[in-house]
Amino acid sequence: MEFTILRFESIESTNDEAIRQAKLGAPEGLCVVARSQTKGRGRHGRTWLSPPDAGLYFSLLLRPKLEPQALSLITLMSAIAVHDTLESLYHLDCDIKWVNDILVKDRKICGILTETCETYEGTAVVVGIGVNLLQGTIQLEIADIATSVEEETGKKPSKEDLIDNLTANLEQYYKILQSEDGPKRVCREWITRSSYAFGKRVRAKTERGVFEGVTAGLTWNGALILQLDSKEKIIISTGEVEQLRKT
Ligand code: BTN
Repeated sequence: MEFTILRFESIESTNDEAIRQAKLGAPEGLCVVARSQTKGRGRHGRTWLSPPDAGLYFSLLLRPKLEPQALSLITLMSAIAVHDTLESLYHLDCDIKWVNDILVKDRKICGILTETCETYEGTAVVVGIGVNLLQGTIQLEIADIATSVEEETGKKPSKEDLIDNLTANLEQYYKILQSEDGPKRVCREWITRSSYAFGKRVRAKTERGVFEGVTAGLTWNGALILQLDSKEKIIISTGEVEQLRKT
């Protein structure tokens, strides 16, 4: 894949710009990077605060040749890529909280927002990645649940090295996803990097309600299997999961 990087000083949201470019016919591999975002978006309609240079604000445009039910795996393969980048560049011991929060010591260091849009060239997928880079820029209200590369390593990271390593990893796992047995391989890779895959007591907030149980692996397309206390197994395809402490 050929990467082209569009850089902005400030923009509303790199995801919005990547979607706009997708609709104009931009090819896959287009990356949008901004020093700050004025309307950064998180999952579930949340705001992603994006002060200048405090984080990496990055969106990648993909035009996957996958069946629609497999598109959810793009989120998992992106989490794997970020996980590996943070481990190899900064030696951070990362975890992945289903489905795509990257945690260090249970605090969030990166969030991923994957969005799809229809274009004349077919379905496009935009992977928006926000990595907390600098200490002191995380607002107080989330300081106990968020962390940054600087806080964990004591060093200010280079954004360019991060982009280089991240794009290489995204390319590698995207190739794996689109290969034969790709979905199985991506799920397997995700499971080896996440403490949430098996045996974790969690609460899942979904559109169907709130469920508590123990995680029991993934379905072929990356949905989380949850075993309820009644022993019934349910599948969580969208929603949010939080760890419950054992009582
Ligand atoms: C989450 O809620 O955890 C996902 C956060 C995703 C934030 C990134 S920053 C770059 C891209 N542009 C956005 O507006 N959001 C994503």
